[in-house]
Amino acid sequence: MAVQINPSILSADFARLADEARAVEGADWLHVDVMDNHFVPNLTLGVPVVESLRKATETPLDCHLMIADPDRWAPAYVEAGAGSVTFHVEAAAAPVRLAREIRAKGARASMALRPATPVEPYEDLLPELDMLLIMTVEPGFGGQAFLDIMLPKIRRARKLIDKHGLDLWLQVDGGVSASTIERCAEAGADVFVAGSAVYGAEDPAEAVRGLRKQAAA
Ligand code: DX5
Ligand code: ZN
Repeated sequence: MAVQINPSILSADFARLADEARAVEGADWLHVDVMDNHFVPNLTLGVPVVESLRKATETPLDCHLMIADPDRWAPAYVEAGAGSVTFHVEAAAAPVRLAREIRAKGARASMALRPATPVEPYEDLLPELDMLLIMTVEPGFGGQAFLDIMLPKIRRARKLIDKHGLDLWLQVDGGVSASTIERCAEAGADVFVAGSAVYGAEDPAEAVRGLRKQAAA
């Protein structure tokens, strides 16, 4: 599958979200970090902001729910216009039911693993998913250093996906930049979230092109 670059609006100016979304048109998806101050110690945005973003950009929305009780909330993000909804397996009561519900409502279903959550126990769930997200920082904040210790997990996840011949995207999120993206690509990731590396750049659209080139090399 072709490499995809998903800028994270967590690193954008929240008072100018529509402009910031348009500044990265050409990116594959816009990554929208939803935090509730329960699952992670930070608070960002919710359903109404996703509804507004949907109208502000043509770029499809990749909603990353770092929230407690995603079983209750994830369907509302599909209804708000997200094209992909990621829930954390550590927070979900019934991940299979939830993935099926997200798909039935018309979005791509994705499951995220915190750094300390292994991938192997979820091998049998992978066919229920359209994407697997391996966090390469502890979720909660942008601008953290990439965790190199996650590279073996990315490799193991890639092996499981290939072993089962699944059409499942493998996303990495956290500390992805010009100096780490090649390692992630080499380990088998194909969808790259980048917050500070895109919005911290002088020209965000150019940063997206640069990351894409590096990951595809
Ligand atoms: C962190 C979020 C990330 C964050 C990444 O918990 O899930 O999406 O925006 O930011 P950077 O790329 O700056 O690490
Ligand atoms: Zn994220």
